[in-house]
Amino acid sequence: MFVSENLGVNNAGHLTIGGVDTVELASQYGTPLYVMDEQMIRNTLRRFHDSMKKYYNGKGEVHYASKAFSCMEMCRIVASEGDGLDAVSIGELYTAYKAGFPMEKVGFHGNNKTDEEIRFALEKGVGHIIVDNISELRRLESIAAELNVQPNIMFRIKPGIDAHTHDFVKTGQIDSKFGFALETGEAFEAVKEAVNCKNVKLYGLHCHIGSQIFDIEPFEEAARVMLAFIAKIKNELGYEIDGLNLGGGFGIKYLEDHDPAPFEVYLERVSGVVRTECDRLGVKLPTMFIEPGRSIAAPAGITLYTVGARKEIPNIRTYVSVDGGMADSPRYILYGSEYEAIVANKANEERSEKVTIAGKCCESGDLIGENMPLQHAESGDIIAVCATGAYNYSMSSNYNRLQKPAVVFVNNGESRIAVKRESLDDVIRNDI
Ligand code: LLP
Repeated sequence: MFVSENLGVNNAGHLTIGGVDTVELASQYGTPLYVMDEQMIRNTLRRFHDSMKKYYNGKGEVHYASKAFSCMEMCRIVASEGDGLDAVSIGELYTAYKAGFPMEKVGFHGNNKTDEEIRFALEKGVGHIIVDNISELRRLESIAAELNVQPNIMFRIKPGIDAHTHDFVKTGQIDSKFGFALETGEAFEAVKEAVNCKNVKLYGLHCHIGSQIFDIEPFEEAARVMLAFIAKIKNELGYEIDGLNLGGGFGIKYLEDHDPAPFEVYLERVSGVVRTECDRLGVKLPTMFIEPGRSIAAPAGITLYTVGARKEIPNIRTYVSVDGGMADSPRYILYGSEYEAIVANKANEERSEKVTIAGKCCESGDLIGENMPLQHAESGDIIAVCATGAYNYSMSSNYNRLQKPAVVFVNNGESRIAVKRESLDDVIRNDI
């Protein structure tokens, strides 16, 4: 009935998330409010790591991509499931560190890491650093020497696969700010340099082919390309690569007609390709890493708003305005991303209208969505926007000096604050 399986309707006709009444959440914590379903996060993490065990003999790790949604409580949940973390800035590293996350299970990314970030990552003992470019390799080599450590590194490779079309295309996708190109020889030259570095150990190779991908073929193709490169390194340099990180990007259901492949099938098929190619090419089976972000956080989350004004413009459209907008939900104005919405206190009713849900920012493009099927919404109603757990809180801003909403986790019928709502004093905390 709803796009995410953790949503339901209770006897009062109210939308529930993880069994908790969303209308009560809105009145208890206020709106706008991000709500995350802890059990669903845990279930999805388990689906990933159980499939890794089943289809790849457990010779792999799931690293949750914390850019999708990062706060200390999320880090604690991931840690308690025994999974790793992908961090892409000193802020994400710091959040994990302060949450007590085991830093040896963290992969540190970034196409333009600062010396400060590299130093922090090394001092805290991250498991591996994913090196993006040759100048980073050289800086890392010298900072590691100075700190007297020998970090494991992976190289981020551009595998030349564009998965952002329905039929993925294999192009010489050199035009990306991320990683080393294969086809120009850049990646191979960098590998030659890295294997001779004294202070870093070239542990693995990494690729990430995009995000919100529904098909499995592009992932299989990426694995083939990467294994061919691993074989080339072995054959020409006599150097064996231990780790293969295939990134994230698994699509999720935002709308009823979205039909992403189940993660289990993805892991079964990609593991199959990795095994077959290793046999065929005579290279050892690498430890496999994946970095799902959206697929873990998005379906577990909703955003709750209170309806204010309703504006019916005859023959044009109806605007239903809510007390948040692009500051907490930036994906429509940025990408035109579509979501399902429900009037939480009328969740049993037909979605009889098609409306534009507008935010409260001083900007015409500040919309949650257009042409959205919705129950008749009036001032005071609570609207839930579904599957907002990824790339909403993490990409939120204080535009118009709006206060960032609170994040509440629900579990076992109970709720608790994980991130407090910003106060007005938070808004001016750095002003002098
Ligand atoms: N690993 C790497 C190296 C990545 O760059 C990303 C996402 C991931 C893993 C996680 O991908 P996921 O499983 O979440 O698709 N802000 C955009 C998405 C940007 C994704 C950036 N990289 C959005 O809201 O759609």
